[in-house]
Amino acid sequence: MILKSGLKFMIPASLAVFTMIVGCKHDPFLVPENPIVVVPDDSCDEDTVYFKNDILPLIVSNCATSGCHDQSSAQEGVVLVDYASIITTGEIKPGNPDGSELYEAITEDDPEKRMPPSPNAGLSVEQIQKIRTWIQQGALDNSCNSGCDTTNVTFSQQVWPTIQTNCTGCHSGANPGAGILLTDYQTVVDAATSGRLYGSVAHLSGYSPMPKNTSKLDDCRIAAIRIWIENNTPND
Ligand code: HEC
Repeated sequence: MILKSGLKFMIPASLAVFTMIVGCKHDPFLVPENPIVVVPDDSCDEDTVYFKNDILPLIVSNCATSGCHDQSSAQEGVVLVDYASIITTGEIKPGNPDGSELYEAITEDDPEKRMPPSPNAGLSVEQIQKIRTWIQQGALDNSCNSGCDTTNVTFSQQVWPTIQTNCTGCHSGANPGAGILLTDYQTVVDAATSGRLYGSVAHLSGYSPMPKNTSKLDDCRIAAIRIWIENNTPND
């Protein structure tokens, strides 16, 4: 739609709709009917850690993997797929990170006991700190509108932060999902040019819906990925 918007003004509306429908069949990138282009509100407080924005994607992509803590594997009874399961089976004590099982597991010194277990890398210092702060702040089921603007999409500002938060945990290391790494610019380009990146995040038929085991990305972030691909995946 973005590429065709100029054309749309030059032809009758009915023909434009027809072109869009036919276009969709052949071009997987021309999909959303109502793409949200700008979400200007920024309701995020910089000192607050938000469950839906920061914690859920981090935990899902590092812990809710097959064989570990997704719904069907539930190792040691621990399921880490949504707020309720994280609080109960992760034994989170609001306000008390050091008394919370999940926090103890990610900060365990013994690499055999630490989560995620070796050979996976442990969480980064920054990721651990986020979880600590979220628990200290009461382990709320909160979220904020972090803003999203697709008028000027760049890899570094929009695409990479989305991938890093929601995808890299499962798409890194020795055994990434579908054998697809999403660990840097080049690997994301490879997934994009195969059509699989957009197909999976937009939940197009024929692709495994991503991110796996959690809710779909918001429309604005999906649109940003589409625009970046339409712009030929610049490293900007
Ligand atoms: C919880 C782990 C997990 C998360 C989070 C995750 N993936 Fe996946 N991904 C997988 C697994 C496992 C597969 C293999 C297919 C399957 O099991 O559905 C896969 C498959 C894929 C495929 C191949 C799909 C196809 O049909 O060809 C792509 C592309 C992909 N993921 C991209 C992403 C992107 C982009 C994100 C973030 C928005 C993401 N994944 C988040 C685990 C994950």
